[in-house]
Amino acid sequence: MRTKIVAGNWKLNNNKKESKQLIKDLKESIKKLKLKDTRVIVAPTFVNLSSSVKEAKKSKIEVVAQNMHQAKNGAFTGEISADMLKAIGVETVILGHSERRTYFNETDAALAEKVDAILENKMETIFCFGELLEDRKSENHFKVVESQLSNALFHLKGEDFKSIILAYEPVWAIGTGETASPEQAQEMHAFIRSIIEKKYTKEVAEKVSILYGGSVKPANAEEIFSKPDVDGGLIGGAALKVADFTAIIKAI
Ligand code: 13P
Repeated sequence: MRTKIVAGNWKLNNNKKESKQLIKDLKESIKKLKLKDTRVIVAPTFVNLSSSVKEAKKSKIEVVAQNMHQAKNGAFTGEISADMLKAIGVETVILGHSERRTYFNETDAALAEKVDAILENKMETIFCFGELLEDRKSENHFKVVESQLSNALFHLKGEDFKSIILAYEPVWAIGTGETASPEQAQEMHAFIRSIIEKKYTKEVAEKVSILYGGSVKPANAEEIFSKPDVDGGLIGGAALKVADFTAIIKAI
């Protein structure tokens, strides 16, 4: 059985007060759900991580970071390290989001180093990847996804790879209201599992949770989550509203 995960990526939203309030409201609203093994994750901005960790204490909600730098320390103005995150109680980091790749020139090579830094600190990665619209139109989407995974992750040993959470986010579906159809998501997730099996083993491929991200809403979550290779979602806009995020968690 793979772990089911619903994660909210808050991006550049919510100040300290709003972050704490959203976590408080979410704690209350998920109480009624019988979640058992499902993980519920939120990713506030860096400055609000500490207060969010405190607010989420003794609840089911896990607070994770949206990014970090690969170096331990040094002359990297404006950056933050894995060790610094760990010291404030953050154990998991989202890496490789398409907005980081597009607006901040994040490369596969840098991501490979970031993943290594996470592992060195015995932390966990939520690794994002996905094709652009032109890749899908030119039917290169499988090739693009395979190269993103192999460039950033396939240097890992099987044991380490198992600890990575994958988040397939087709760029054309992020914030656009256009969701990949449940069939498109399943097709890609099954492909991802097949290349993991080819590189590692069936056991590793079966163990890794693969989330779908891109315009997941209460109205489409259940159908997407019903697909056998979809183990949850990475949610943007709908994670900012407690009712919507709760409805999506309920759909898992
Ligand atoms: P939306 O759910 O707003 O499309 O964002 C998805 C996303 O980028 C999550 O990381």
